[in-house]
Amino acid sequence: MDTSSRSNRKVLVLAGDGIGPEIMRETMRVMEFFDRRRIASFEVAEGLVGGAAYEASGTPLTDATMAQALASDAVLFGSVGGPKWETIPFELRPERGLLRLRKDMDLFANLRPAVVFEALADASSLKRELVAGLDLMIVRELTGGIYFGDPRGVETMPDGTRHGINTEVYTEAEIERVVRAGFDLARKRNRRLCEVDKANVMESGGLWREVAERVHADYRDVELAFMYADNCAMQLVRAPKQFDVIVTSNLFGDLLSDCAAMLTGSLGMLPSASLGAADASGRRKALYEPVHGSAPDIAGKNLANPLACILSFAMMLRYSFDLSDEAALVENAVRQALASGARTGDIATGGARISTAEMGDAVLRELEKAA
Ligand code: IPM
Ligand code: MG
Repeated sequence: MDTSSRSNRKVLVLAGDGIGPEIMRETMRVMEFFDRRRIASFEVAEGLVGGAAYEASGTPLTDATMAQALASDAVLFGSVGGPKWETIPFELRPERGLLRLRKDMDLFANLRPAVVFEALADASSLKRELVAGLDLMIVRELTGGIYFGDPRGVETMPDGTRHGINTEVYTEAEIERVVRAGFDLARKRNRRLCEVDKANVMESGGLWREVAERVHADYRDVELAFMYADNCAMQLVRAPKQFDVIVTSNLFGDLLSDCAAMLTGSLGMLPSASLGAADASGRRKALYEPVHGSAPDIAGKNLANPLACILSFAMMLRYSFDLSDEAALVENAVRQALASGARTGDIATGGARISTAEMGDAVLRELEKAA
């Protein structure tokens, strides 16, 4: 355990919209616990993003907040968006704030683990035996592909018809760095990497395969397989335990990670880490966020599940601060809270449902016991 109590871990907290603030409140209680117990300390600053930032300053992310994010060791992000902002111009929408953070911090490797906690194996929409013990990792490319490719937009043709355009484009270098991130992770896990694309219909997918094949030469200890994205979606719900690490493009990763999330019982359980390249000192820019969105329908009602956000904090401990034991402490507290029966509405299968704050209490109680 880290007992040095260094306070040079700069964390920028961006709670955002919808359920963001309430799940972040519980996560910050976990951070405060670490501080109070002198297990690890953090220098926390808070900022606005998404609709909240738009309301305050007319943009989903100010340049000042962007600069603050770049100067932080890690960003902890809640969620953005809501019906209130669905009709404002595209470039001012809450989601643009998140996309700018990803792009300007160059967070190209998005790690989305899908782990089934034993206590939740029955909350999945799939049969228990298909998901019990599941532990897979999706590595989603996050700063390229169709999300950012040019040309894009809606064009009016001379005959008056309109065309909607987005472009899937990947450079070899963009593919290579994320594929390497996939191989590196596979090496620390079960040494199996599955590269997912639509090489049967997309040239860019063919390039992904070529690059993965080439990079494989540096990772002969890892088994490399290829799969088409449609088949992968099917395999994820048919036999998800066949996967160890999946590496794929931005758009396919977006779709497949929602699918994988549901295997775990609820989107409310899934954390993620978005990482940049390591600098000379080995540090990476990083942003941690729950995979779920802002859930406007239950926002402000103290009903949301804070576990994905709390588990995102655990990922921060592991990937940004090299505090693996401390990360495990958080993950075990979550596991124990679930084992003791704590269930928010999204993961309840009949029994009593507790509130967001009560789920926070349950995790804190387990931390107290374990630390
Ligand atoms: C996600 C979300 C985002 C995405 C949205 C909110 C822009 O769906 O992180 O998966 O599409 O990447
Ligand atoms: Mg998504």
